[in-house]
Amino acid sequence: MLIDNHGRTINYLRLAVTDNCNLRCQYCMPEEGVQFAHKKELLTWDELMLLSQSFVEMGVDKIRITGGEPFVRKGLMDFLDKLAKLEGLEEISITTNATLIGPHIPHLKKLGITKINISFDSLDKARFNAITRRDQYDIVMTNIQRMMEEGFDVKLNCVVMDGQNTEDIIPFIHYVQDHPITVRFLEEMPFNGHSDGTSTLKWDYIAILEHIKSHFGPFEKLPAPPSSTSLNYRLEGSKGQFGVIPSYTRTFCGTCNRIRVTAKGEMQTCLYASESIDLRTLIRESNQVSGLKFSIYTALQARHKDGHEAENQSETKKSMTLIGG
Ligand code: GTP
Ligand code: 5AD
Ligand code: SF4
Repeated sequence: MLIDNHGRTINYLRLAVTDNCNLRCQYCMPEEGVQFAHKKELLTWDELMLLSQSFVEMGVDKIRITGGEPFVRKGLMDFLDKLAKLEGLEEISITTNATLIGPHIPHLKKLGITKINISFDSLDKARFNAITRRDQYDIVMTNIQRMMEEGFDVKLNCVVMDGQNTEDIIPFIHYVQDHPITVRFLEEMPFNGHSDGTSTLKWDYIAILEHIKSHFGPFEKLPAPPSSTSLNYRLEGSKGQFGVIPSYTRTFCGTCNRIRVTAKGEMQTCLYASESIDLRTLIRESNQVSGLKFSIYTALQARHKDGHEAENQSETKKSMTLIGG
């Protein structure tokens, strides 16, 4: 079991397999993109496997594949074939924009990878295209529909942005009343690649919940594991659920069970931390799994208590596609 210096059990690894993406969401990066990694800077699939195995041997039992957009990297499905065989790993999940997942749906289902979180910020085509700066709405809708039909556990992630998509909140709730999936409304974090790090967040999770309540009346709170990022709810008679994620307010740090590794192999012990541990160099130069595990363990003994503490030291102009979500 992996326990950090604040007594939190770490069993969840967020593993980025690329920093590249075929969309340009406004809250994630600037229109021109960011300085993406060169191929040789990326962890190879073998290195990603070695790392996954090491983390699982240390106590991780859940790996979420993130990016950038994971499906833009060639070889992802072969990697998932191997990862699915890793003993001790109980859950593999993916966060994706769902533009490229279509052809892989049967294969994912065969591997038992059915927990798919989808960045999807508007049900309205024009607004979706404006936020993502690309024209991919129809394919994303088709893929969401197909995953629903195949019984996947689909969660839509909607980053709430004042003046951009707040009129989508109510339609999204109507959508999950009729469909057996979850929508979660996320507080926007200042990780769009050009923010100065300060935030004037108008739509925190309380404002979002108030808005929903003023429209629909009271709703039932659903139980969730203590480490959950989301507070989850259901309206009576709904097929699906909705939730809010206080990603900026950071109410869940006290039970944080996660670590993240970027596509370049930098381990971050907090989403808001600016410092990272260079696992890639450790793998390439020492080639010793024991040294790698020691470094991971040591880093977890110097973890920030919460994201607010980490942020005091953080740089600005971060981009979510480079952090890995
Ligand atoms: P589940 O496994 O379904 O609970 O998903 P998740 O919420 O862990 O992952 P997802 O990739 O869907 O992330 C949803 C939102 O939560 C994103 O905005 C993330 O950046 C945010 N989030 C995830 N992990 C953390 C975290 O450790 N700290 C903070 N502050 N936000 C996080
Ligand atoms: N603020 C909040 N959430 C963000 N995501 C990406 N950038 C931001 C941001 N600046 C979300 C995406 C994705 C998840 C991993 O992180 O919607 O679903
Ligand atoms: Fe964990 Fe940092 Fe996220 Fe808080 S902000 S939940 S400490 S990673």
